Amino acid sequence: MRMPEQVQRLAIVIGVIAAVVLVGRFVLMPPTLVARELHRSSTEQREAAKPVKFAGSSACQDCHDNVVEKKAKGYHKGLACEGCHGPAVKHTEDPSAVTPAAPRDRKFCPVCHAYDAARPTGFPQINPTAHNPLTPCIGCHDAHDPVPPRTPKACAACHAQIERTKAISTHALLACTTCHTVPEAHKKSPRTVRPSKPQTREFCGTCHAKDAGAKEAAAKGTTATDAAAKRAKTARQAPRVDLSTHGETFQCWQCHYPHLPEGRS
Ligand code: HEC
Ligand code: HEC
Ligand code: HEC
Ligand code: HEC
Ligand code: HEC
Ligand code: HEC
Ligand code: HEC
Ligand code: HEC
Repeated sequence: MRMPEQVQRLAIVIGVIAAVVLVGRFVLMPPTLVARELHRSSTEQREAAKPVKFAGSSACQDCHDNVVEKKAKGYHKGLACEGCHGPAVKHTEDPSAVTPAAPRDRKFCPVCHAYDAARPTGFPQINPTAHNPLTPCIGCHDAHDPVPPRTPKACAACHAQIERTKAISTHALLACTTCHTVPEAHKKSPRTVRPSKPQTREFCGTCHAKDAGAKEAAAKGTTATDAAAKRAKTARQAPRVDLSTHGETFQCWQCHYPHLPEGRS
């Protein structure tokens, strides 16, 4: 049986394309373009010719075994030496001629530890503006074994969650005692002796009302006078609202959690 004519034509077209491809691939193309081995070896040569910059943490062991051992036991065990000290291969070759920089500046550690909602839950985070400001981080934390120094905190010992929440809020710089008057006995019998809690809209108004600060010195709140003086100082940076209309007559903390207040942003 003869093939129909259109099929013959199609076969010719396909045949021509196949012939062109085969001639191009095996006759016209120079072998250097096609040979896989040549490509691979030239890539290897090119990569091998690049200067090595990172020595790797095991290279530090020989001369800094004390640091290596200390770090291996601490919270920073997962970090590479050169992640903080920069590429150090030149230093391993000639330690006295080239010394790697040590990141002693306060700006460095917050690259990983500044509060960021995107970081995993439980990752140790701080608010760099509020966490022991103006002192280098390494003044209190050993970079190779960063245990938080244990200073018993009066309130955080029992109210750690509130303390941590407040630490990342805009109220971070306000002491607990700015808003709560705490009898000493509260720390011994916390359930029977209760601290005060703010009772009025005017209390928040001492910092947030339009005329806040001016009246502060005269204001007699629930707190002692040194707390009042502190409030007057902080009030200067507080955003203002019109107390007579803002939030109608509801208590401020029915809308704003006082330990993590949110405004417009
Ligand atoms: C061959 C030995 C040797 C090796 C390997 C070596 N170091 Fe050093 N390192 C030294 C010596 C010696 C000094 C002190 C140099 C000086 O004070 O002039 C030093 C100093 C340092 C300092 C101090 C800088 C400062 O400001 O105080 C750092 C940081 C450092 N090394 C990091 C590293 C890292 C990271 C590695 C691994 C990638 C490494 N070293 C590998 C010998 C070595
Ligand atoms: C989290 C960042 C970080 C990592 C990781 C780190 N370092 Fe350091 N390193 C520092 C800082 C910051 C200093 C400065 C400390 C100071 O001056 O008190 C320092 C100081 C040093 C010094 C000089 C002073 C000393 O303590 O002897 C050496 C040497 C050193 N580092 C080596 C290493 C080696 C080796 C590793 C890996 C095992 C390493 N570092 C990992 C941040 C880091
Ligand atoms: C490259 C990121 C990185 C850098 C830079 C870094 N850290 Fe860390 N830090 C970590 C990791 C990861 C942990 C361990 C977290 C864990 O165990 O869940 C940690 C843990 C800590 C802890 C322990 C907190 C706790 O109790 O759980 C402290 C304190 C700390 N780092 C302080 C510092 C200081 C100070 C510096 C600057 C010298 C610094 N870090 C630089 C990543 C970093
Ligand atoms: C004046 C001493 C001091 C300085 C300076 C300091 N810290 Fe701390 N840090 C502490 C103390 C005390 C704690 C533990 C109690 C607490 O949470 O406040 C701590 C806790 C931490 C924690 C653990 C928080 C958690 O939730 O487990 C991290 C991370 C940390 N600091 C990082 C830093 C960084 C980064 C810097 C520099 C920007 C720094 N610290 C500066 C004293 C200090
Ligand atoms: C020994 C542990 C402990 C210490 C320290 C402590 N508290 Fe308390 N606090 C408690 C307990 C327990 C309660 C009762 C919680 C409850 O009833 O759910 C409480 C309740 C409170 C209340 C709520 C009172 C109420 O009537 O609702 C406030 C406000 C408060 N504490 C503030 C503080 C402040 C501020 C500090 C630091 C100056 C502090 N506490 C220190 C254990 C403690
Ligand atoms: C800006 C003022 C302010 C600051 C600063 C503040 N609080 Fe409060 N706190 C309040 C108010 C207002 C309430 C009452 C909230 C309510 O009744 O819903 C409260 C309630 C509480 C309660 C009762 C339980 C709860 O969560 O409602 C505890 C416990 C407490 N505060 C502890 C603390 C501790 C500890 C600190 C410091 C880390 C602190 N507060 C800082 C204003 C403040
Ligand atoms: C001692 C002064 C003081 C007192 C008292 C005070 N605040 Fe604040 N508050 C501030 C300061 C300062 C800021 C802004 C800090 C900043 O912007 O860094 C602020 C910020 C705020 C914000 C804005 C947060 C944002 O994201 O913009 C709200 C909402 C707020 N406070 C509510 C309250 C409430 C509710 C009370 C009463 C329970 C209260 N504040 C008591 C000083 C105070
Ligand atoms: C009915 C809910 C409600 C009540 C009650 C309320 N607020 Fe607000 N507040 C808001 C809302 C919503 C915003 C953000 C939008 C805006 O600025 O109006 C806000 C914003 C703020 C801001 C930030 C303003 C800025 O410029 O960033 C402050 C400060 C504030 N409130 C303080 C207070 C104080 C103090 C009280 C008590 C006197 C209070 N709020 C009562 C709902 C409330």
